[in-house]
Amino acid sequence: MSATVSLQQLTDQLADLESASVEAIDAAATEADLEALRVSLLGKKGRLSAILGSMGRLGPDERPLVGQRANGLKERVQTQLEDRMDRLQSSAMAERLDRERLDVTAPPSFIPPGHRHPLIATTEEIVDIFAGLGYRVSEGPEIESDHYNFTALNIPPNHPARDMQDTFYLGADRLLRTHTSPVQIRHLEAHAPPVRIVVPGRVYRRDAVDATHSPVFHQVEVLALDEGLDFSHLRGTVMAFLKAFFGDLPVRFRASYFPFTEPSAEVDVQWRGRWLEVMGCGMVDPAVLEGLGLDPQRWSGFAAGLGVERFCMVRHGIDDIRRLFTSDLRFLDQF
Ligand code: DAH
Repeated sequence: MSATVSLQQLTDQLADLESASVEAIDAAATEADLEALRVSLLGKKGRLSAILGSMGRLGPDERPLVGQRANGLKERVQTQLEDRMDRLQSSAMAERLDRERLDVTAPPSFIPPGHRHPLIATTEEIVDIFAGLGYRVSEGPEIESDHYNFTALNIPPNHPARDMQDTFYLGADRLLRTHTSPVQIRHLEAHAPPVRIVVPGRVYRRDAVDATHSPVFHQVEVLALDEGLDFSHLRGTVMAFLKAFFGDLPVRFRASYFPFTEPSAEVDVQWRGRWLEVMGCGMVDPAVLEGLGLDPQRWSGFAAGLGVERFCMVRHGIDDIRRLFTSDLRFLDQF
């Protein structure tokens, strides 16, 4: 026979439990402590369950009284636990905010900005000006055949450019292109006139390196082919381009010779009191058109080849072409 338990005893135990809970909840210092406390008070094996376990020994009319009290207690303790949890969480947050304070007025750490190489910037500027005149960009391979680099451009077999001394040959019929002019041929093979193209690209020559020569350099080729184009269109286009790039500088055309243009000219601009050659140009030679199966009676046009390094060096006052290829950041950072 189990020991009897009085209503009064259980009520006292509940009251004790409640006052002990209030103190313990207040004393809990961390979220984990508080959770452990909740389990020990209200959990299945906790103190409240233990008190309710002995309820069966009460009389049937006493049990609901204890049950009611227990429920009230449980609710109050739960509310206190939640309040305490809220306070612990917000003080933990406040402490974290304080610890991880972000000073939005602090100076930023320095990230050096990248920028385009001056040769790329110059190429883009040249191409942009021609794009504004209605030209589209075309490109071709740096490894070429004799046909595209020389023969199709009306360059005779005994021309010095074909010499082993001037051209990098890679094999029987493979060479590094010596100019961007072969793209004239490639483009006209693939596109019927009228065409207006601008061709940026890298070119190669077996030159000894000095202040004005590099075995690799950059050109921009220009080609316009249409009905009724004559030298005045060439001149007008070149003048418009030079004005856009350099501003108002004195310009002169000098008669010259290129196998793929007739007549041909070289163009100089006066820069700081000196005449500087900046491009070769001319009217597309009828022999080039015939080689492509185009009727020179119907189609005419002009071409030009610009040296990008020259434009870049004049624009920035650079005195030695080697500076453009040595990747010295003390130099490059100036642009
Ligand atoms: N291809 C020539 C060179 O590399 C430059 C040139 C001259 C291109 C006259 C042309 C031109 O299109 O018409 O020296």
